[in-house]
Amino acid sequence: MKLKHDVIIIGAGVAGLHTALSLDDDMDVLVLSKDYAWECNTFYAQGGVAVAVDEEDIPYHIKDTLNAGAGLCDEGAVDILCHEGPVVIKEFMEHGFEFDKDRDGNILYTKEAAHSRNRIVHAGGDATGRYIHKFLMDLLKFPILYNTQVTDLLIEDGECYGVRVFHNNEIFNIYAKKVVIASGGVGSVYEYHTNARTISSDMQGICVSHDIPLRDMEMMQFHPTVFIKSSAVRKQLLSESLRGEGAKIVDEDGRRFLFDYDKRGELSPRNIVSQAIFDFQQKTGKKVFLDLNNFEEGFFMKRFPSIYFNMGNMGYNLPIDLVPISPAFHYAMGGIKSDLFGRVEGVNSLYVVGEAANTRVHGANRLASNSLLEGFVFSKRVALDIKLTLKEHKKSVEFDEVEPSLIKPSDKDLKNELRDLMWRSAGIIRNVNNLQKALIRVEEMLKLPIGKLLRLRLLSSREIIKSALARKESLGAHYILKGDDI
Ligand code: SIN
Repeated sequence: MKLKHDVIIIGAGVAGLHTALSLDDDMDVLVLSKDYAWECNTFYAQGGVAVAVDEEDIPYHIKDTLNAGAGLCDEGAVDILCHEGPVVIKEFMEHGFEFDKDRDGNILYTKEAAHSRNRIVHAGGDATGRYIHKFLMDLLKFPILYNTQVTDLLIEDGECYGVRVFHNNEIFNIYAKKVVIASGGVGSVYEYHTNARTISSDMQGICVSHDIPLRDMEMMQFHPTVFIKSSAVRKQLLSESLRGEGAKIVDEDGRRFLFDYDKRGELSPRNIVSQAIFDFQQKTGKKVFLDLNNFEEGFFMKRFPSIYFNMGNMGYNLPIDLVPISPAFHYAMGGIKSDLFGRVEGVNSLYVVGEAANTRVHGANRLASNSLLEGFVFSKRVALDIKLTLKEHKKSVEFDEVEPSLIKPSDKDLKNELRDLMWRSAGIIRNVNNLQKALIRVEEMLKLPIGKLLRLRLLSSREIIKSALARKESLGAHYILKGDDI
C-alpha cells in the first residue's frame, strides 16, 4: 500500500468527495472512509440543496441564513455561501447531475422552514443526498481506502504531516502534504439522532487532544420531526420539506399547538419547533404527530419515495397514518474552527470542511438545506488553496506508529451512558445544574481505563458541555433555562 500522498481526505460525504472532484487529476490523492462510503450524512440527506433561484434571490437567501443564524453568523461566510452556491451547483449540473424537474423541464424548488421562498432543489424526490453521493462517487478519480479509522493526526511544530490509521487490524501512518478533515459532525454522542452510524466526533476529539480550537460547540441542531420508535441507531428523519409542502404537526387531539409558540406554526425555524414540541410534551404529557393528510397518495409516493418505503417497512401506511414524532439530534453547527478556505487555526497543511468545520456560516442555527450547499461551496475553496500551496517546500518527518487500545471491554456501557447523559443534559433544553453534573461525570469517565475511541467522544462531549455552560443566555439552537433540573 502506498503510504505517501499529496493529499489525504478524511471522509467520503459531499464535502470530501467534492474536494476530491475539485483537485487536479494529476494530484496524488487518497480518500479515507471509515466504513462503506455511503455511511455518511450526505447519503441520508432528504430535503435538498438550498440555492438562490436567480441573482435577485441571493440577498434574500443571505437574509434568511442570517436570520436563522440568530446573530452568530460570519457575514463573510454567508456571503460566500449564497453568492458562490449558484455557481458551484451549476458546475455540478454541467457534470450531468439532474435535479427533479417538472414536465416542461423546469427545475422544481421546494420550501422548508424559515426560507422566504421556494429555493430548495431536490433529486429522486426525497433521496437528494443518495443521488448526489452516488454521482460524486461515480466521478471520483482517486482511490478510496475503506474501513479505515483515523486514530490521530501527525502534527509537529504546528505542521500536519498525515494521519495514523487503524485498517485491516493494523495501526500505521499515512503521510501527506495536505490533510483535509471532512468527517462530519457528532451524531453518535446523542441517544437519539438522524446521523449515519459512522458520525461519532472522532476528529473533533483528536483536535481537542492537540489543542486545536473547536468553536460554538453548544450550537447543536435538533430536527423536530423524527420517528424515534425504532431500534435502529439512526432514527428515521421526516424531511422538513413535508411541512414545506403542507404537513401539519398535531397533538393527540388533532390540535396544531405550535401556533401557541410562534405565529409561523410548522414553518417556524427548526430550533423553535423542536423546543416547542419538547416543552409541550413536558407540560402536557401528550403525544405529538406528523399529519400528512394534505397529500394525495399517488403524489406522496412519487415525491417522498424513501419516506414512504421506510415508514411502510415499519408498519405505517403513508400518507394516511399519523406518525408519532420527536425532535432528535440532527446537525452540529459547532465544529473545528477554520477560516473561509477551510484552513484550521494554528496548524499548517490541515483543512476542515463540511459539518466538521466551523466557519460560522450557520451561526447559532442552520437554515434548512444549507448544509449540502456548504459542503459543495467550501470544498471548492479548500481545493483552491491546496492547489495554490501544494508545491511549497515541506520537510519530511517520521512519527512512531504506537497507539493505545482503541476499545476496552467496559466502553460499550459507558458509551451508552454518555449518549443518555448528553441527550438529557446537553439536548434541546438545558440548565446549568444538569450541565454541571454532566461535566463532572464526563471528567470522571475520562479518568477511567477506557479505549481511545471512547476518549475522543468524551473529549468532544466535554467541549459541547463546556460551551453550553459558557453561554449563559439562550441563542438559536442553544436554549438554556434558568432554574433547577428539568
Ligand atoms: C430535512 O430534509 O428536513 C433535512 C434538511 C436539512 O437538514 O437541511
